[in-house]
Amino acid sequence: MDLKEYKRRRKKLMDMMGDESIAIIPTASVYIRNRDVEYPFRPDSDFCYLTGYPEPEAVAVLIPDRHHGEYVLFCRENDPVMETWNGRRAGLDGAIECYGADDAFPIGDMDEILPGLLEDRQRIFYTMGNNSMFDQRVLGWVNQVRKRARTGVNAPDEFISPNHLLHEMRLYKSRAEIAAMRKAAKISAAAHRRAMQMCRPGMMEYQIEAELKYTFMKLGAQETAYPPIVGGGANSCILHYTENNQVLNDGDVLLIDAGSEYNGYASDISRTFPVNGKFSSAQREVYELVLKAQSAAIGKIKPGNHWNEPHEAAIEVLTAGMVELGILKGRLRQLIKDQAYTKYYMHRTGHWLGMDVHDVGDYKVEGEWRTFEPGMVMTVEPGIYLPASSKGLAKKWRNIGIRIEDDVLVTRTGNDILSKDAPKSVEEIEAMMAHELAV
Ligand code: GLY
Ligand code: MN
Ligand code: MN
Repeated sequence: MDLKEYKRRRKKLMDMMGDESIAIIPTASVYIRNRDVEYPFRPDSDFCYLTGYPEPEAVAVLIPDRHHGEYVLFCRENDPVMETWNGRRAGLDGAIECYGADDAFPIGDMDEILPGLLEDRQRIFYTMGNNSMFDQRVLGWVNQVRKRARTGVNAPDEFISPNHLLHEMRLYKSRAEIAAMRKAAKISAAAHRRAMQMCRPGMMEYQIEAELKYTFMKLGAQETAYPPIVGGGANSCILHYTENNQVLNDGDVLLIDAGSEYNGYASDISRTFPVNGKFSSAQREVYELVLKAQSAAIGKIKPGNHWNEPHEAAIEVLTAGMVELGILKGRLRQLIKDQAYTKYYMHRTGHWLGMDVHDVGDYKVEGEWRTFEPGMVMTVEPGIYLPASSKGLAKKWRNIGIRIEDDVLVTRTGNDILSKDAPKSVEEIEAMMAHELAV
């Protein structure tokens, strides 16, 4: 993403914050995995959205109308020894030249410098509760300024979370963000195609997970956006199954929910297919129903419609279909009213998607479901889960768990399915699975 875009975002946020304010936005912490091994570092999404700065140990400070520059970055300095061992650092000069900071200071000097930056600012935009140690430091800096009140400086006395302003901005994706999300979805779709082509009865779930991750990395994604779900048979009915350590049996379905993260943007795709490459008639009936519900839900995504319309459409189709198949018994309206479908469809039909897989942004505005506008991206992911343990379920349905999930962008005239390269109809899936992969 180019520097101008980050600058535009900071300016927009500062315009909304107003004069006499300051924002303090730290990146994520580094977490220890074991002894001296760290988990791979992932910058905080809000921090990264405003700065693009990828290194750990950094805090962005935004100070509207500050003469010496509005964007101050506290970060790591260059250190030849550490850089030889652990990799390059942008350093203070790099923070300015490569990342557009107006001023850059060593992260170790923050306790000295920050109180001065707070002087005569009325409002602090800072999110409490993410990191209690950092919360204490912020309060300590404010107290230092308060103690100097007799010298004529004013200390800030309003604490405001920047979340509302920032998350509204993040909800509407720019052209560059959409390009990154399209790429993430394309990479993930290629991974799902490969999984379909590689799958054979007798393989282990983790072997399919390996094919997914291989494709992600080979095509340039840096991470998985969340732990991949690769569940065969009974495991297809566990919504967030991630053990991925069982054998894939002939006659079972395989539910895969896996998405790559590309340049900080998530994709989130689910596909379900028969392990042996041919849907049984029962699997096909449930699959076609979920597909019909998904298509009805996607059809509701256009400017002006509200957030809950896709969910309502999915529920209607799923409930009617389950009555037709004999999985639910009763009258359609009453079953919907009683939420009888939640026995087999227990989650919602989607969520916002962006830098975070369950992305930020309010779903209701002033108590009403939010209406769709161009630039919003969401998932559409209806499912039906029929575990063998479910009482009263005919034998033929047992252990069929199906979810179909796509990533959908709201456009001016309707929507665009970013993940459309992942096969979805029964015919497309069977054809893809019949096709030998040249490896
Ligand atoms: N992969 C998590 C979800 O679908 O929401
Ligand atoms: Mn998913
Ligand atoms: Mn999802």
